[in-house]
Amino acid sequence: MKALVTRPGAIGSTHVADVPEATGDGVAIRVLEVGVCGTDREISHGHFGVAPDDESELVLGHELLGRVERDGHGFSRGDLVTAVVRRSCRHCLACSEGSPDSCLTGDYFERGITRLDGFACELVVEDPAQVVPIPRSLGPLGVLAEPASICERALRHARAIGTRQPWELQRALVLGAGAVGTLSTYLLRLAGLEVWTASLEPANDLVTACGAHYVALPGTPLSELGSFDLVIEAAGNAQLMADTLGLLRRSGVACLLGIDPRVQRVELDGRTIALDTILENRVLFGSVNAARQDWLAAVADLDRARELWPDELEQFVNLRVPLDRFEDAFAHRGGKATLVLAD
Ligand code: BGC
Repeated sequence: MKALVTRPGAIGSTHVADVPEATGDGVAIRVLEVGVCGTDREISHGHFGVAPDDESELVLGHELLGRVERDGHGFSRGDLVTAVVRRSCRHCLACSEGSPDSCLTGDYFERGITRLDGFACELVVEDPAQVVPIPRSLGPLGVLAEPASICERALRHARAIGTRQPWELQRALVLGAGAVGTLSTYLLRLAGLEVWTASLEPANDLVTACGAHYVALPGTPLSELGSFDLVIEAAGNAQLMADTLGLLRRSGVACLLGIDPRVQRVELDGRTIALDTILENRVLFGSVNAARQDWLAAVADLDRARELWPDELEQFVNLRVPLDRFEDAFAHRGGKATLVLAD
């Protein structure tokens, strides 16, 4: 069968290859579509990713939308599904309690990223416990379940941290309007918050359509926007990450989701960290990946968002190309690109 494979560490080695058909007695899933994100680009550029043990190549793709091939394991032929990305390291407390997203060893496996082949191939066979149902009403938008699960985990953790003391979550700032920034904006609007989303483009209709305020970054200093109960950094800029601490209100929480691997120094006013953060009970934390509960929340919230803003979410996935046009998908900016493997 056809698959998109790469040799981790080898720049530009990504190509479409013929790989053996998936076998085994899990849930057989016909892959319909696979979303592409910054992590896939990083792997393809040789900066990230690990092939399965004893293999030199890794099948890419961790944002799955698929259709169950035959009845069994609690699923029916034709069901739309996705599957979680990270799998247990098998020897830590967090993984043994069903939270590989909080793995304590770093020895976890991730589909399409770390030591496990991904979903950018025609058919996958998946452990039933890792399969997540997608409601038929959500349809092709189910391909957004993975990035939405990342946002759900971040919000769940932000709420857990915020509510360790009396806290009112009313005003949020999202930095970055890629997939994670835009989906975070939609989830926060669903929760009824006043949301400000800042990015580099002069305007962003997707952001304003859900009732959030859009801020074009170069022109507007963030300090002019006032302060926030929650700041989410989804732009992947280390300086902006440092700046988040100074944008918080009393008891505010800042969550870092974007990644910026550049070797660099960032500036932070000493008083922001060594005075305000203490005297105002502020917190800065990072979040990665998602637990099963976040996937279930993501699917349910995407379906609620689709009811409120159907056209906007449709526009969000704005490039769908076949597997052999993966380079176009990787080069795409502004909205989500996907690889289409079947109708
Ligand atoms: C994925 C996460 C994964 C992380 C690190 C992200 O792109 O969405 O599921 O844990 O990369 O590998």
